[in-house]
Amino acid sequence: MLASGGGTNLQALLDTLAPPPDAPARVVRVVSNRADAGALVRARRAGVPTTVLRDPTDAIELQRALADADLVVLAGYVKLVPPAVVARFRERLINIHPALLPAFGGPGMYGRRVHEAVLASGAAESGVTVHYVDEHYDRGPIIAQRRVPVRPDDTPDTLAARVLVAEHELLPEVVLDLARNIQHTGEIQ
Ligand code: GRF
Repeated sequence: MLASGGGTNLQALLDTLAPPPDAPARVVRVVSNRADAGALVRARRAGVPTTVLRDPTDAIELQRALADADLVVLAGYVKLVPPAVVARFRERLINIHPALLPAFGGPGMYGRRVHEAVLASGAAESGVTVHYVDEHYDRGPIIAQRRVPVRPDDTPDTLAARVLVAEHELLPEVVLDLARNIQHTGEIQ
């Protein structure tokens, strides 16, 4: 997993994935561009190896850190993945975004700003998107989405909290599906 923030999506994965040998997937490493990322604390607490990147734009350093991964999950990772790494992990690199892409995505659209933009647009619903990562922020093919209602009295924080609940449900479901595919076919279909 690649994460820059608190790591609640990592926690949802750790809590959902059964211990081997039953689990079709397990978190083998957590990589961050920030030494103080809460996701690293959660990983260490769960006994998962961690890596802090010296330079997140360095494709070789990142490929080395991800070497033992069959599937790479981005959750709250704010750096653009170098094109060489995207090419190396094509269709094995997924990201979770707290809105219904293609709307409310792109450079700078992360965290509270996303929910502020949704509320400012007057949209009646928001949600979460899991998509493959390509060379652009939030533009890769969509794998799955889950919708949540926007309430008239919502603030960016109350909306973010409702979307996060949906994230913690959808991400483990998608990861397990993809992992089962890899397990059965050796590749994602
Ligand atoms: C999530 O809302 C995710 O959709 C977004 O960044 C946030 C990360 O949260 N890309 P956490 O670090 O998993 O708690």
